[in-house]
Amino acid sequence: VSEAKVIDGKAVAAAVRQQVADDVSRLSAQTGRVPGLATILVGDDPASAVYVASKRKACQEVGMNSFHHAMPATTTPVELLALIDQLNEDPNVDGILCQLPLPDGFDELEIVNRIRAGKDVDGLTVLSAGRLASGMDGLRPCTPLGVMTLLESAGVELEGATAVVIGRSNLFGKPMAQLLLQANATVTTCHSRTRDLPGVCRSADVLIAAVGRANLVKPDWVKPGAVVIDVGITRAQSGLVGDVEFEAVRKVAGAITPVPGGVGPMTIACLLGNTLRAARSAASAGGLPATG
Ligand SMILES: NC(=O)c1ccc[n+]([C@@H]2O[C@H](COP(=O)([O-])OP(=O)(O)OC[C@H]3O[C@@H](n4cnc5c(N)ncnc54)[C@H](OP(=O)(O)O)[C@@H]3O)[C@@H](O)[C@H]2O)c1
Repeated sequence: VSEAKVIDGKAVAAAVRQQVADDVSRLSAQTGRVPGLATILVGDDPASAVYVASKRKACQEVGMNSFHHAMPATTTPVELLALIDQLNEDPNVDGILCQLPLPDGFDELEIVNRIRAGKDVDGLTVLSAGRLASGMDGLRPCTPLGVMTLLESAGVELEGATAVVIGRSNLFGKPMAQLLLQANATVTTCHSRTRDLPGVCRSADVLIAAVGRANLVKPDWVKPGAVVIDVGITRAQSGLVGDVEFEAVRKVAGAITPVPGGVGPMTIACLLGNTLRAARSAASAGGLPATG
């Protein structure tokens, strides 16, 4: 039995980060200013604190400025919106990231939508989502962008291919489907009400799972030779587990991403890439939209 090629997300992410670091030093030399990412963390969720800390560290490693705003769980929506307004106006801040989930009492969409589109490095505002759906230039959500980068690095042909995405969140599933469509794939989006999920998955040349259910995708759901991208993360005692039954599926698939070490490392790499893009647009006239 031949085994699938394992797509090494760590290596691809490292290459993206190196490219961003090179571009940051060039941009800084040309314009005299260093790109900056502002991170906002509200409350004391330990997992969120770890995520924000690794984003800040990654920023510093590529030579960008990191401005951190830790706010207590008692922060009001008005106070948080005021901080975002201030960061929107701050010329040293190219990207604004508000770590989700926010504590109870915040309307996440309202908060996120206050971020100016040109600084929306998470790509999660309604304007960024609309620009993507309309085929316009803009900042894209980091994890779907990371998947596109992985597919490209693995030489996967998307033109005319059948792609199936399991999951329809605003964070991942919907923008993933839009990006695949833009690359001329034939795209199906599945979710919890999909009838015959295994059958739909079997039609996929490219199968992308983003559910958060350990080992949901079985080997007999996978077309022989298909490319399988595992976005899901479940914390188990043994460590992180993906949505795909990796050992069994790799005997069927043509290429597969592992968990950990697949899609995960791409998210932060793409956040850095987005911040660089935002900084470039800020430095040149006629870039990304400044309003929103
Ligand atoms: N950096 C990274 O690697 C990264 C980034 C983002 C997310 N993730 C991971 O990716 C997973 C998905 O994230 P998310 O934010 O998109 O989660 P989410 O908002 O919870 O969405 C999960 C999606 O899965 C669908 N679903 C649930 N059970 C299903 C089933 N039995 N069959 C088919 N579909 C089912 C849901 O359908 P309904 O819409 O019908 O409820 C929903 O659309 C999570 O494990 C998350 O941790 C990883």
